[in-house]
Amino acid sequence: MGRRMLVAGNWKMYTTSGEGAILVQDLADELSDLDGEVEVVVGPPFTGLKAVSTVIELDHLEIGLAAQDCHWEAEGAFTGAIAPRMLLDLHVDYVIVGHSERREYFGETDETVNRKVKAVFEAGMVPIMCVGETLVTREALETDPYVRGQVTAGAAGLTPEQAERLVIAYEPIWAIGTGRMPTPESANDVARMIRATIGAMYGPPVAVKMRILYGGSVKPENAKMFFSEPDVDGGLVGGAALKADSFAGIVRAAH
Ligand code: 13P
Repeated sequence: MGRRMLVAGNWKMYTTSGEGAILVQDLADELSDLDGEVEVVVGPPFTGLKAVSTVIELDHLEIGLAAQDCHWEAEGAFTGAIAPRMLLDLHVDYVIVGHSERREYFGETDETVNRKVKAVFEAGMVPIMCVGETLVTREALETDPYVRGQVTAGAAGLTPEQAERLVIAYEPIWAIGTGRMPTPESANDVARMIRATIGAMYGPPVAVKMRILYGGSVKPENAKMFFSEPDVDGGLVGGAALKADSFAGIVRAAH
């Protein structure tokens, strides 16, 4: 199928810029024997992007850079917000959009997620759009319609070229930071449904190229199980991305 595996670290609200610079260097050291078959991305907080980007460039590291959010407008009177082109200026490759923590604590909706997805593409970067259900939704057996709704709304209005480059991260909210996880088969079922949804919107050839990540308590010990599933093309990693050796273990599991 030819989809390149992608393992991305979401550092959330951890690491100063100095700590981030050390972490990315340590990670590069851990991964130095690998051949680049798997795409590796780190996602520091805004304040760490410049330092991490500088280390990546000076040391010619094969590591991509993600921001964790952005505004949908190109500029304006939006105190405290960061525009997509400010991220591009720091050599950011990916922007995480619609993480469940942003939806829960910062009022992100499917509509704002969609505006951000489009803005990230327009600025020349690639969104990693997060979707996923709560435990209540899962127990009510409503995961599929709920996640399908998030995908349909969040990925609306793209060109086919954009849609095939979009990365969707399926992160069941109840699995984030909890040590609880769906079975790999169940994660794959949702990933397949997400791919079918994109297929219905943009056509099967687009859906076949689009990458879908699993996120939620991914660790070196369990990563291979998820990455072996046919519709899971890598992972979005939180806690385990904050230590170079554990994140490297997850990257190895993707090989
Ligand atoms: P954990 O890996 O800590 O469960 O976090 C997952 C996540 O939210 C990544 O975006």
